Amino acid sequence: MTRTLRVGLGGRAYDVLIGTGLVDAAADHIRPFLKRPVVALVMDEVVSGLHSPRLIGALEAAGVTTHAVVVPAGEETKSWAGLEDVCERLLALELERGDLIVAFGGGVVGDLAGFAAAIYKRGVDFVQIPTTLLAQVDSSVGGKTAIDSPHGKNLIGAFHQPRLVLADLCILDTLPEREMVCGYAEVIKYGLLGDAAFFDWLEANGPKVVAREPDALAHAVGRSIEMKAEIVAEDEREAGRRALLNLGHTFGHALEAETGFGEALKHGEAVGIGCAQAFRFSASLGLCPGQDAVRAERAIAAAGLPTRLQQLSAHPFRADALVRHAAQDKKAEGGALTFILARGIGDAFVARNVDPAALRDFLISEGALA
Ligand code: GLY
Repeated sequence: MTRTLRVGLGGRAYDVLIGTGLVDAAADHIRPFLKRPVVALVMDEVVSGLHSPRLIGALEAAGVTTHAVVVPAGEETKSWAGLEDVCERLLALELERGDLIVAFGGGVVGDLAGFAAAIYKRGVDFVQIPTTLLAQVDSSVGGKTAIDSPHGKNLIGAFHQPRLVLADLCILDTLPEREMVCGYAEVIKYGLLGDAAFFDWLEANGPKVVAREPDALAHAVGRSIEMKAEIVAEDEREAGRRALLNLGHTFGHALEAETGFGEALKHGEAVGIGCAQAFRFSASLGLCPGQDAVRAERAIAAAGLPTRLQQLSAHPFRADALVRHAAQDKKAEGGALTFILARGIGDAFVARNVDPAALRDFLISEGALA
């Protein structure tokens, strides 16, 4: 069964379809957005090898000409050079302004292809077909597109909403276990930030989600996207509530920066430990019951995600270095530290003016070096 969720953004509203077999039926779903039957498929070499025959076959069988723009796999592709490469190849293909770009991949390809779509010939339509759990529940919905700069991740980008998102659960069958667990970190984040009942459900059913049991997976992806769609519709450009989606991300980002944004600590793992830290920090500030921090940590750990600095190979970290990264976060305003903290499970809020000294003390209590 396919579920359709609407991201209510007025003239830029769009549907997110969640179900099985959506890749095979892609032509039917995409056709309403085609002015002529031509699409450019941006994907990395891994997705191209695993899944492009199905997508290209389905589109070509329906009379849609597909141009494959295959990019190297990995975060390095989300760069100025990667963006230039994609745009120049689209120009060489003579892709017209009325044509459609399809971002077929995980977060890297979604962000890169989405940004290319935002600026190619001053903007063309694009469709997201996310191939990782993380991209399905988070990055493919909401129109954040970006590349990285040597100064930091996602610093150059644009808000450019897709016209459609196809979240095909079948495609997750081939996802490596570690990627599945990483995506689950973003799922649990939704429960922690705004839906205590969903968190309760994840406490009981999280292992089934990670094991890809179809009903559990469909419920988890559906509820996550529903929450994301609702938040984005309310606050597209992150003037307020959308910032809650960054729960765990400031702590996590600091650890990613210290570990080189690579295989040592993947983004989802950083979000897992970051959510656990955000709850413990909230508890240490007297904002949230200690028992909720314990529950958050237990549920995150049950999925196989790290929750403590000591579990990371780069441990020990220096508290000052982590505080410095937090100060450079995109949410920081006028030099003040901004964190997403919690009053309890399902009740996160934006905390401005977090005291750097309190943060430093907390990190030292977590095992970081003074
Ligand atoms: N991933 C956070 C957001 O889309 O706002």
